Amino acid sequence: MKRKIKLGVFGFGCVGQGLYSVLHQTKGINAEIKKICIKHPDKARPIDASFFTTSRDEILNDPEIDVVVELIDEVDAAFEIVSSALRKRKAVVSANKKMIAENFPALLKLQQEFQTPFLYEASCCASIPVIRNLEEYYDNDLLTSVEGILNGSTNYILTHIFENNKAFDEALKDAQRLGYAESDPSLDVRALDPKYKLLIILVHAFGIILNPGDIFNYGIQNLKDADIRYAREKNARIKLIARCCKNGNKVYAYCMPRFVPVSDTLNKVTYEYNGLLLEGAFAEHQFFMGKGAGGNATGSAVLSDISALTYDYRYEYKKLNQNLNHTYTREIELEVYVSYNGAIQPAAADFESISVRHESPGFNYLVGRISLLKLMKAKWMDDPSVNLVLTENNI
Ligand SMILES: NC(=O)c1ccc[n+]([C@@H]2O[C@H](COP(=O)([O-])OP(=O)(O)OC[C@H]3O[C@@H](n4cnc5c(N)ncnc54)[C@H](OP(=O)(O)O)[C@@H]3O)[C@@H](O)[C@H]2O)c1
Repeated sequence: MKRKIKLGVFGFGCVGQGLYSVLHQTKGINAEIKKICIKHPDKARPIDASFFTTSRDEILNDPEIDVVVELIDEVDAAFEIVSSALRKRKAVVSANKKMIAENFPALLKLQQEFQTPFLYEASCCASIPVIRNLEEYYDNDLLTSVEGILNGSTNYILTHIFENNKAFDEALKDAQRLGYAESDPSLDVRALDPKYKLLIILVHAFGIILNPGDIFNYGIQNLKDADIRYAREKNARIKLIARCCKNGNKVYAYCMPRFVPVSDTLNKVTYEYNGLLLEGAFAEHQFFMGKGAGGNATGSAVLSDISALTYDYRYEYKKLNQNLNHTYTREIELEVYVSYNGAIQPAAADFESISVRHESPGFNYLVGRISLLKLMKAKWMDDPSVNLVLTENNI
């Protein structure tokens, strides 16, 4: 695409407005917004009313619009918009990890059938360029693991809890006010948002397509003061970690809180920042850190995708096409800390071994080894009085 590209944008919330702002402050991007489709026509908008429509078709049927930018907070509507645009051979940029993770096979098929690019860098870690790095730099089989803090909102909450002694609810409200939290904050707090990102990363890192239900996610919803005290006593913090790792041709993945020693690299990742540690067979460790949420940070990743489209960039899905014979497994053993108040007890029989068991009025915990598969099936895990944190002693 050599001529100036015309954008049809869906959504003018936190990210849509961020995109508008960064686009207008960036020289050398050969793109302009022609129309913006929103949901509520009566909302006050900071830019001219002539930009807005509530009709999808005004964008989808406009032959002048080359690129559809999908930045809405609904999943089904977003999937319909993206599918229709691809069918009309309009390139698409999206930041909607939930929509992408839940519909990956269909979206891949549409890209192939209509030979039209679909880019979504902003969906994983907002401002950190993850996907293009995995596609282009790690276009080989040398990558062994990707792990990190993929959710800006919970990292913001945990940083405030540990560094500023703020209460959970107060920190969550701040994250929402600042535009770091998803419209439905349970997606962040219950670790669904980082799981969706991990699902996308798995495709580009290891060529594995999974359903959201295949990956274990456990959030920070049951974090208690006693867990925070325990972490501090161990000179650690609690961080919500997403990890996928290759061992031979087996790949495993999970998303859960972990005790992270104060001196650890991941503890440098504070507030709304995201951090990603990549490990390669020869490159060893690489660390990426950047803003993982917020309008301008996310808008700049969207802009980078738009810019990539001006030179006809598209994902080649190299790892999928290399037929790497990777298989996904949940048969790994993890060391976990489980706290509980006594009414509901973790079933000892689920554990391979228990190395520590502490019981005192109002605060009980154990440290033990358990398989990921058992963890996913354990009923006691669903109780709000129980809290789970991975220990530092895990591969
Ligand atoms: N916020 C972040 O930091 C961040 C970071 C990375 C990725 N994302 C992703 O980016 C997307 C947008 O997030 P956001 O934070 O910008 O959300 P947001 O602030 O809640 O804004 C959502 C926008 O979508 C519009 N909208 C909702 N349903 C629509 C529909 N059916 N048709 C047309 N417009 C519709 C809304 O219209 P009205 O204005 O009329 O209500 C609003 O403008 C989400 O997928 C999110 O997961 C967000």
